[in-house]
Amino acid sequence: MLACSTNTGQCANLHQASQAACRKLHVEMLHHAVRSLVVALALGASRFALAQESTHSLVSRRLTEYLLPVASETHEFARVPDTNFVLLSQMSDSALIKIELDPATEEPIAWKSFPMGKNSDSELHGVWPSTLHPGKMWLTLQGENKLLLVDPGQELSTAPTILQTIDIPAPGNGPHCVFEIGNRVWAGLKVASEQTGQYYVFSADVANATDQTLYPCLKSPVFIKEEPTTGLIYVTQDTDSSIMRINVTSGETTQLPIPPSVGNNAVGMITGYGPMSGVWFTLAGNATGGTGTFGHIGSTGEMEFFQLQHPMLGTNAGLLHLADASTVAGGPALWLLSTSLLSTNSPDALIRVTFDADMSAVSGEEYISMLTQTAMVHRVLPLDQTVLVSEMHTFTLAQLTYTNTIAGQWLPAESISNTTVYAQAG
Ligand SMILES: *[C@@H]1O[C@H](CO)[C@@H](O)[C@H](O)[C@H]1NC(C)=O
Ligand SMILES: *[C@@H]1O[C@H](CO)[C@@H](O)[C@H](O)[C@H]1NC(C)=O
Ligand SMILES: *[C@@H]1O[C@H](CO)[C@@H](O)[C@H](O)[C@H]1NC(C)=O
Ligand SMILES: *[C@@H]1O[C@H](CO)[C@@H](O)[C@H](O)[C@H]1NC(C)=O
Repeated sequence: MLACSTNTGQCANLHQASQAACRKLHVEMLHHAVRSLVVALALGASRFALAQESTHSLVSRRLTEYLLPVASETHEFARVPDTNFVLLSQMSDSALIKIELDPATEEPIAWKSFPMGKNSDSELHGVWPSTLHPGKMWLTLQGENKLLLVDPGQELSTAPTILQTIDIPAPGNGPHCVFEIGNRVWAGLKVASEQTGQYYVFSADVANATDQTLYPCLKSPVFIKEEPTTGLIYVTQDTDSSIMRINVTSGETTQLPIPPSVGNNAVGMITGYGPMSGVWFTLAGNATGGTGTFGHIGSTGEMEFFQLQHPMLGTNAGLLHLADASTVAGGPALWLLSTSLLSTNSPDALIRVTFDADMSAVSGEEYISMLTQTAMVHRVLPLDQTVLVSEMHTFTLAQLTYTNTIAGQWLPAESISNTTVYAQAG
């Protein structure tokens, strides 16, 4: 699956998830020497042996925050594939922020804001890269009931050009997140229909946008993903806490309610491949906090749930979003994003979880508390070597960077200490 050369450019033809794993593999190979040393240290090298080593590169894990224009709602963001640009939506004033990354370090270095839509009430929200139109991006104007396909432009200062507009047909209302799956573009319609009071999922053929379907659903559709084995489409619905399954061939839809005993508010969803095959989703919780729960649906269509164990940060985590964190060396893993968006009882934290061999239980949890608590973190996006997190409340983009190691090789705290709390403070 991951046959690729040492040139990271060779990752380009692989599937998106495999590409990420492939690039991570290269990073791992680059740091192999350093890592071997670190592992040797961790696996019980004595102080005597330590003293015999000459010098050591320090392994670090660093979070940096980058200030964006002031806005009350910093929403979706995505990298324009094969470029150093990230597009980010600020919904409250319908602005598209184009962010330039340093090509070597991936650090955000500059930005420019572009108004999108008729006016500041157009509610720019969804941002998603097109695969059928490489280099072009899908956007949604929730307030104008429109999907846009745009050319983001070659330079930071170049304004995006609108290539195609798809009007959401009545009774659909309010396209929120947008995705391209196979030959179709999909959008969750977040706002109750003016005609029927219902909610819908919209889908259209990218090559023939008059070929459209509206699927009635519960309140309110957010993420839309394909289960890779069956080709079935799954949709999270947040407020009504249920997942809808769509068979595109038959048009049949089925609701899979989240059992209240595990939590509620299904939001983030991704497609997993290889050992993680299926769709993975997170539960964001409610005003009393989250339950640190996320779930998986594979080819059988059954929901299975996983729960974080860390008593301070995990068990009340409100998990809003997630991303693939797998590496070749470290195996299957997920980034989970806990947010204070719905409850200040839930921490703002980025959590990396690993699994046991048969993917039946969580085997490791690495916690990275965000620098600014109550920042209402919103989305997580792994780049090639770093991870970006958007902070909705503080109009900030945070970046996690590992130096002299990679995600998945950061040693768990319990590898050298036990969890006994000391009886004396001194
Ligand atoms: C486009 O889709 C419409 C609606 O499904 C269909 O009637 C039409 O034949 C399609 N056009 C082409 C060129 O496939
Ligand atoms: C989807 O519906 C079609 C047509 O009814 C059926 O043949 C197919 O088996 C269904 N797909 C799945 C994965 O259930
Ligand atoms: C919030 O979620 C918890 C955990 O699922 C549940 O016990 C509680 O009833 C929910 N509260 C409300 C107001 O829905
Ligand atoms: C854990 O640490 C405490 C405090 O240093 C110590 O008293 C205890 O013996 C340790 N337990 C084990 C199992 O090593």
